[in-house]
Amino acid sequence: MKNILITGGAGFIGSHVIRLFVTKYPQYKIVNLDALTYAGNLENLKDIDHLPNYFFEKVNILDAPAIEQVFDKHQITDVIHLAAESHVDRSIVSPLDFVYTNIIGTVNLLNVARTKWKDDYSKHLFYHISTDEVYGALGAEGLFTETTPYHPNSPYSASKASSDHFVRAYAETYHMKTVVSNCSNNYGPFHFPEKLIPLFINNIITKKPLPVYGDGLYTRDWLFVKDHALAIDLIFHEGIADETYNIGGFNEWRNIDLIKLLCTLMDEKLGRAKGESVQLITYVKDRPGHDRRYAIDASKINKELGWKPTVTFEQGLSETIDWFLQNTEWLDNITSGAYEKYYDSMYSNRV
Ligand code: NAD
Ligand code: DAU
Repeated sequence: MKNILITGGAGFIGSHVIRLFVTKYPQYKIVNLDALTYAGNLENLKDIDHLPNYFFEKVNILDAPAIEQVFDKHQITDVIHLAAESHVDRSIVSPLDFVYTNIIGTVNLLNVARTKWKDDYSKHLFYHISTDEVYGALGAEGLFTETTPYHPNSPYSASKASSDHFVRAYAETYHMKTVVSNCSNNYGPFHFPEKLIPLFINNIITKKPLPVYGDGLYTRDWLFVKDHALAIDLIFHEGIADETYNIGGFNEWRNIDLIKLLCTLMDEKLGRAKGESVQLITYVKDRPGHDRRYAIDASKINKELGWKPTVTFEQGLSETIDWFLQNTEWLDNITSGAYEKYYDSMYSNRV
């Protein structure tokens, strides 16, 4: 019997992890702790929120006493920590928000877990979800492995790197049982439309310009979000304590090639003329400190835990586009109001 606290469960990846755990493990109690920031949306969980093993607590991870109450109320045995400020562009505008949530919030959670589990740390796991961005940028060659030195370049990645270090420090200093995984770029249903793929899907639907940063030759390694959730499940149950696992799909795309593929697929699905959406591509001012290339070597999780992606990029992208086309209400609810202000302030001075 486990009572698992999953933080950030109302966000993009967190909602997929919650759905997987709540449905796959009816014997576990799954507690979703989320502050419901702009990125948190309980609509993401409306298909499973009636299930008897699912609980929601609206709590900010900056509020240590409230976290303690949640631990007591639900007798939390394990943590899977996803809550974070996650968008690089926002971190360039407001770095402190990232320091507070990603660093101080993580330390708050670690402190509560340290106090509540002190009788026997070996019975409890603190699983920290991190990113490949902590490793910095790659040149044309090479892959990030678990031993690549940390070299974060954005306020976002610096805050995530710091939180990873705190998790390791708590394992070393207090002998808490921890595990960290560093994943590449996710995409899929419920992805917030500030990130490349959902933003561009939305702009193609509404025939808005597609703002490509810089020369468009930046490279990312894309993984379908449900495959990330499956990797998290495996690491949570079978990962070795105090280890790190890199997660990625060996699926590198230059932004411009991915954008052209997206345009082609969407023209087909929307019944538009071939080549119509590509006309929307607009090169804009680059992101400051833009990392040139990320690529994950996922051989450790593959060899040691037997994980590999279950879908090809073409399948995952097609499923993602279909989901967005079938869930226009979800998209409309997000892209009205505050989102419009964000979009105007982020992109008006870029052209
Ligand atoms: P997201 O922005 O979609 O969701 C973040 C969630 O955290 C939201 O529900 C938000 O309400 C919640 N949250 C934010 N600040 C909080 C606070 N102070 N207290 C409580 N809850 C708070 O993020 P995501 O893309 O789902 O990423 C989830 C995690 O995975 C993050 O830790 C991120 O660094 C990591 N990650 C993301 C990717 C990716 O491609 N999206 C890849 C690798 C790792
Ligand atoms: O690598 C994992 C990381 O992937 C996660 O840790 C982050 O939480 C997640 O946001 C993502 O970071 P990126 O910066 O790689 O993702 P984003 O979708 O913002 O951008 C992907 C690429 O597309 C990047 O090279 C910047 C570019 N881009 C992005 C936007 C939003 C554009 O060219 N135009 C845009 O409008």
